[in-house]
Amino acid sequence: MKNLVNERATRVGLCFGLLAVGVLGWGTFKGAEGEGSFHAAPLAPREAFAAQAPDGAKIYSTLCASCHQAQGTGVHGMFPPLAESEWVTGDEARLIRVILHGLTGEIQVKGETYNGTMAPFGGALKDAEVAAVATYIRRNWGNKAPAITTATVARERRATASRNKPWTAKELNTTTDAPATRAPARPSTRP
Ligand code: HEC
Repeated sequence: MKNLVNERATRVGLCFGLLAVGVLGWGTFKGAEGEGSFHAAPLAPREAFAAQAPDGAKIYSTLCASCHQAQGTGVHGMFPPLAESEWVTGDEARLIRVILHGLTGEIQVKGETYNGTMAPFGGALKDAEVAAVATYIRRNWGNKAPAITTATVARERRATASRNKPWTAKELNTTTDAPATRAPARPSTRP
């Protein structure tokens, strides 16, 4: 009797174990499929998660490269470069705001003046996707700026929720007030 109970417990345990492996395997397969790659062996849970994280390179080539070009060089006089751009490697809140809501009017990039309009991408991209593409452009073509987290994008989206048109450079260079990225204003020493 005791043996039978034990045996049953083992069998039940085994069934649940197999079920878990099956579910995990399917999730991994779907994730890998979504990324357009193929993994023959089931992945460990950590890798399975990585396979589902948004791919900054893919978002860039799909949504941004048509204007800013595959190597981030831009197009002279029309689309500003992202390689070596202070807009990309500088203040993270400002960069996130450009991607979320767009940018219009005169701007300076690498000593050149541009005067166009970039459409907003905040509606098309989730926070994690904005973070992935922002991190991608901060880390390529010689750019070496720290990664941008999903939490920072979420914070900027909340802080600018009422924004419904592209920014101007003037607005962004004077109103980027994200507490985590800006030093507090120095108190005036004038009387
Ligand atoms: C249809 C063309 C177009 C697309 C697509 C586009 N941009 Fe832009 N982008 C522009 C233009 C034009 C400007 C300059 C706007 C101005 O002159 O005020 C700009 C400016 C920028 C800037 C600030 C200036 C600089 O060169 O650093 C960043 C950063 C940027 N874009 C990132 C992106 C990212 C990331 C994507 C994809 C999610 C993207 N852009 C998609 C046209 C585009």
